[in-house]
Amino acid sequence: MVIAIDGPSASGKSTVARLVAEALGFLHVDTGAMYRAVAWKMLGDGVDSADAAAVVRRLDTLRMDLDFSAENDGPRTLRLRLDGADPGGDLRSPRVERAVSAFAAIPEVRTWCVARQRELASRGDLVVEGRDIGTVVFPDTPYKFFLDARPEVRARRRAAERESAGELAAVAHVARDMTERDRLDRSRTVAPLRVAEDACRLDTSNLDARGVADLVLRHVRSRHAATAS
Ligand code: DC
Repeated sequence: MVIAIDGPSASGKSTVARLVAEALGFLHVDTGAMYRAVAWKMLGDGVDSADAAAVVRRLDTLRMDLDFSAENDGPRTLRLRLDGADPGGDLRSPRVERAVSAFAAIPEVRTWCVARQRELASRGDLVVEGRDIGTVVFPDTPYKFFLDARPEVRARRRAAERESAGELAAVAHVARDMTERDRLDRSRTVAPLRVAEDACRLDTSNLDARGVADLVLRHVRSRHAATAS
C-alpha cells in the first residue's frame, strides 16, 4: 500500500507524512531528499546542472544506498548514502537548496530517482512525499493527497524552521527563494508539480500538522474500508 503526499515546499508535507507513517506503522519516504542528495553530490564533484550531459555521465556511476531506520520513537524513515557517504545535514544547506530544482528538472535525474522510489515499494507499505508521487511515481494508488497553504503562511513556516536551526532568515528573502523554486518545480517539462485529478486537496494554512494528519488518516481509512467491502 502506498500513500502519496504531494505539495509545494513548506506545505506541511514532511511533518504530516511522518505522523501518518508513524500512526500506520508504514515506512516514510522523503523523495525530496533523493533529489537533494543528487544535487549535493554533483555540487561536491563540481558538476554543473547546466551541463546535463555531464550530470548524466556522473549518474551512470553514482551509487545510492537506501535504508530505513527510526529516530527516537518516530517511524522508520529513509536514510541515504551516496557512493558510501552520508550527506547528513548538508541536504538542507542553502547551497543545496538553491541548486536542487535545476538538477530535479533534468529528465534523466528524474528517471534515475523515480526507478529507485518505485523499488522501495517492495520493502513494505509506504508513505511517500514529493511533487509527482500521485501523478508519476505511483499513479495507481487510490491514496493521494495534495497539501498546500497560502504563500505567506509557507514563507513564515520555512523562516521559522531556519531560525530554529540557528540561521538568520528574513521572511521576505525566504518568500522570494520559495517563489522561485516553486516556479521552477511547476514549469519544468517533465513531471511538473501539479495536483493529480483524483487527489484529495487539503489547505493546511489554518491547521496544525496533527490536524492535517488526522484528516489524511480518516480519508485513508474510509477509502480502505470502501475498497475492502
Ligand atoms: O521537498 P523538498 O523541498 O525537499 O524538495 C527538494 C527539491 O526536489 C525541490 O526543488 C523539488 C524537487 N522534488 C521533485 O522535483 N520531485 C519530488 N518528488 C520531490 C522533490
